[in-house]
Amino acid sequence: MTDVTIPEGGFWPAPEVPQPNIYPMEWRVETAKLAAIYEKSKRMVWNPADLPWDLLDPAAFTREQRLGIMYWFSVLANFDASGPAVFARATIQAFEKHEEDPVRKCFFSITRDEMNHEECCQRSISRLWPGGPLGWEPSTDLEHAAHNNIGWLYHNGGRYWTGYNAAVGKYSLAVLFTSFMMGEMAASTLFRGMASATGHPLFSEMFHKIGRDESRHLQICMTILENEWPGLTDDVRSLITRQLRAGFVFLSMILWEPPEGFWELPPYFLHNHRVLMDRARDAGLGVLSYDEQAENWRIAMARVRVIVERWGIEFPAIPELDIEGVAVDVIDPEDIIPVF
Ligand SMILES: [Fe+2]
Ligand SMILES: [Fe+2]
Repeated sequence: MTDVTIPEGGFWPAPEVPQPNIYPMEWRVETAKLAAIYEKSKRMVWNPADLPWDLLDPAAFTREQRLGIMYWFSVLANFDASGPAVFARATIQAFEKHEEDPVRKCFFSITRDEMNHEECCQRSISRLWPGGPLGWEPSTDLEHAAHNNIGWLYHNGGRYWTGYNAAVGKYSLAVLFTSFMMGEMAASTLFRGMASATGHPLFSEMFHKIGRDESRHLQICMTILENEWPGLTDDVRSLITRQLRAGFVFLSMILWEPPEGFWELPPYFLHNHRVLMDRARDAGLGVLSYDEQAENWRIAMARVRVIVERWGIEFPAIPELDIEGVAVDVIDPEDIIPVF
């Protein structure tokens, strides 16, 4: 005699859950390496609030230098601060599509890390330029230029988000993650370069820590792609070639300078951007020179190229950096899915 009720004729099977749906719950592990990276990510967590913020003294900079640093972090925020929302959405989608458990957990950990990177932008800006990026009244010409450029940047960030939302449900993990991989390659390259170039102890520690997170994100992307790439069809391969060009066009805004093809910017934007970047550079933030940035970006692209060519994916032409490859002309906002 048991306590449970067994109906005559046996239990009634529960209806099947219509898919995609996060139910039924299960915790399948297929890629032990991803599970190990997730464990590592939990042990490496750091708190942006614990960085030595008292070393960042606004009085140690001229007003224009503070403006330059605020401007750089506002540009960075166009990328790094979209990370939490981008990966939160990717995490939900991974649940709905019943990706294995470590894939979902790794997406979650990237969401967590990106929230920290966003917090670094937020804290740096609020310490040096209260009200930044946009909630302040400019008074000089340079300040008006910065405020206006940031408005234009965020106009494009908004286009990216609309495109990403339309794209994220359409693409397979292979396509999505090649774009993410490129973003992480860009991010780890950027922060490694700036961590060694900055003369400021706070920024040095911040960039080292962010750079370490970005390298882990790159590792996550590579591990997922090793599972996904073997099944590629030629159609998907050529889609990935386009996405790589889209990634270059989008990410160049923070790695180097924006090329033609996606960015909607007024004609004076680039000149004023350069002036503001110069202020951030003389403040000792660690912004590399135009040529150093180009060289770093070229090296990062060469790494991506070696990785994708192994899987028969052609690399796009990047004439801006004298990189030869397949010509890709028009970039649609829905092609732009990389993220830091
Ligand atoms: Fe990242
Ligand atoms: Fe990031």
